[in-house]
Order: sequence, then C-alpha cells, then structure tokens
Amino acid sequence: MDNLAAEKIAGIKQLAEFLLQSDYALVLTGAGMDTESNIPDFRGKDGLWQNIDARVVADINTIRQNYKVFHQFYKERLSAMTDVLPHAGHYALAELEKKGIIKGIATQNISGLHLKAGSKRVYELHGDLKKVFCDNCGAPATTQELYEMKPCSACSELALRPNVVFFGEALPADVWNKAVAEIKKSDLLLIIGTSLEVAPVNQLPYLTAGKTVFINAEDVGHKFDLTIIGKAKEILSETMRYINA
Ligand code: APR
Repeated sequence: MDNLAAEKIAGIKQLAEFLLQSDYALVLTGAGMDTESNIPDFRGKDGLWQNIDARVVADINTIRQNYKVFHQFYKERLSAMTDVLPHAGHYALAELEKKGIIKGIATQNISGLHLKAGSKRVYELHGDLKKVFCDNCGAPATTQELYEMKPCSACSELALRPNVVFFGEALPADVWNKAVAEIKKSDLLLIIGTSLEVAPVNQLPYLTAGKTVFINAEDVGHKFDLTIIGKAKEILSETMRYINA
C-alpha cells in the first residue's frame, strides 16, 4: 500500500473516532459532495467556472439586464440536475444523522441530494431548485415555465428564476442564522467538497468551538485539525465501516 493510502486510512480512522466521541457534530458541504452524482463542481479540475464566467451567468444583474444569457446557462444546469441521485456519501451522512451522531448539514449545494438521501436537518444556504418565481413581481411559476423561458403569467415580464442565491444577492437570513447558531454549538465540524472560495460560507469553519475535519479532493490552503485528501464518497463510506464495526 502506498503511503498516501496509508495516510488516508489513518485519517478515516481518526474521523470515525472524532465522530463517535462528539456530542454535537455538524457538516458543511460544497459542490465536491455532488460530483460523484454527475453534477459538475465550479472550481475543481473539470469545474463549470473553468470555461464560463460566473459573474456573467450567475449574477443577479444578468437576470435583470440579459435574461437570455442567464437562461441559457440555467437551462443546462436544470436539465443536468433533473434525474441525479444521491451516492453512498450522501447516504452515509443521512445514516450518521439517524444514529444521532451528526445534528445537521449546512450545504452550498442546490441539488437537494442530501434531502433525497434522507437527511432531515439540511440548511440550504444557497437556496434550492424546488421553487421558481418571477424576479419582477414575485408570482410563483413552474420549473417547466422557467425551462421553456415563458414570461411571468402575472406581470408578463421575462423574469422567471429558481429560488437560488445568485452572486450579488443575500443568503436567506433564517437559514443562515440557523446554520451559524448550530455550527457555534458544534464540537466537531466536517467540511466536505468545497474550495471555501465564496463568502460568507467560507467563514463558517471558523465559528465552531470544536475540531474541524476537511475532506476534499485537493488542499485549499486553510488549516484544519484533520485533513483527508480524497473523494467524498469513498472516504464517507469507509468511515461508516469503522463507525458500524
Ligand atoms: N470529493 C471530494 N472533493 C471533491 C470532489 C469529490 N468527489 N469533487 C470535487 N471536489 C472538490 C474540488 O477539488 C474543489 O476543491 O470540491 C471543491 C469544490 O469547490 P467549488 O467548485 O468551488 O464548489 P463550492 O466550494 O461548493 O462553491 C461555492 O460558489 O459558484 C458558487 O454558488 C456556487 O455554491 C457554489 C459556491
């Protein structure tokens, strides 16, 4: 076995111990949690933002000034996310919640995969794809109307959008405050599949009074109590083997 594998196994054993010893463990996930469910991330090696400028397609001003550019990007994103399924890593986190070992997941992901895997306390910090509404008048609309670039049925504006937080917008205050309160209470915070490039979520790891564990395909230059470099699905599945041993 090469020493990377040995290091990863030692990290996984340590993670399982931290989880079993913890009283209030929380999880923070990013797009790297969903790549093994075939949803591309943003800044990883094949990330979306490698060849699309986020500030153009995912900025609130683009919806208001250049709806067609926003719609072109979001239509692809919506279709890429319709029939995606959770992977063993999502199910591992749901099982840890069922066992009372983790108390909630704050996620930057809009895919809904944590909920689909059975996790109950999920704080969707960057919104979700469940709700569609008119950015101009707030009237509700359907995903199908958004997909077909229909005008709003109430005000006829071309302004339908998903309930996702775009660059330049505030995060949902109730969800943010709940996630902050929970992380402040935690004695262990797992940070999984995120580059920690985007504020304010990248401040959350510094709010826990407890230990931090970083699980990611690559190092992102922050200091944690434990760092396990590798794929979320494998690391979380392996961790469950030690938890259930
Ligand atoms: N397992 C572990 N880590 C992975 C995996 C995997 N299978 N796949 C990718 N990663 C890592 C990448 O190496 C990268 O460091 O996950 C990280 C994903 O980082 P980003 O693509 O920046 O995603 P995220 O941190 O969630 O972005 C935050 O930016 O564009 C906005 O709103 C968008 O919510 C998103 C926010």
